[in-house]
Amino acid sequence: MMSRAAKAAYYVAASPLMRLNGMIYRSFRAPRSGPVKVHLGPGQRHYIDQWVNVDANMFTARCDVWTDLRYPLPFRNATIDAAYSHHVIEHLPDIAGHFRDVFRCLKPGGVYRVAGPNGDSAIAKFVERDLDWFSDFPDRRHSIGGRFENFVFCRQEHLTILTYSFLEELMTQIGFERLCLCQPAIETNHPLLFRECLMQEDESDPAVPHTLVVEAVRPRGRIDGNGSAHHGRADGRVLTP
Ligand SMILES: C[S@@+](CC[C@H](N)C(=O)[O-])C[C@H]1O[C@@H](n2cnc3c(N)ncnc32)[C@H](O)[C@@H]1O
Repeated sequence: MMSRAAKAAYYVAASPLMRLNGMIYRSFRAPRSGPVKVHLGPGQRHYIDQWVNVDANMFTARCDVWTDLRYPLPFRNATIDAAYSHHVIEHLPDIAGHFRDVFRCLKPGGVYRVAGPNGDSAIAKFVERDLDWFSDFPDRRHSIGGRFENFVFCRQEHLTILTYSFLEELMTQIGFERLCLCQPAIETNHPLLFRECLMQEDESDPAVPHTLVVEAVRPRGRIDGNGSAHHGRADGRVLTP
């Protein structure tokens, strides 16, 4: 794992260039029509063919667009059909802003599948004192508190704790509808859109998943992402096998 200081220095140095690169991509290369699927933060091993893979790390990640997700996404309004991120948003300082931006880029009817460390499960397992549910990554910890801290903050890499009700609140305010907690995490309400993503996901504990996976739809007929004209309600539907 890159040290925090090295990562901070990298972002300070590279962010203006990434921002420029994103703006150039958006102006000249971003797809304006046809089916467009965007994968945010693929990292090293999870590049998906036929998707537009977006990442900031030019050393460790394989991507099509090198840009920083803290800036506006490099896509025009209402031009993408699907967005996918897996263990990425917990690294972002403004999750609500990120959801708003994904909403802006999605076509009406477009879907965001977003996944990250499951705070609900971690809290339940902390209360149960189930040491084995937690790993000792990134630091070797033997206590339940130490392992819990590892999971939630990952040596200060993660900026927040993700729970379903938190994501539901943010996404609903922005105007997403048909929110779905995917349970088990490897399920989807949109198999045609996310087939390739599911093939990459693995969950060692389907009953108490380590990864929280939520899908949400941009309603048809909406123009902006400020939630003021919200006419869809999250149905809180839970997928079961
Ligand atoms: C923990 S890795 C997850 C990789 C992969 N999605 C997976 O599930 O294994 C987080 C990824 O998000 C990317 N990332 C984190 N913050 C970012 C940012 N501000 N802009 C762009 N990419 C970012 C990192 O470079 C890294 O590739």
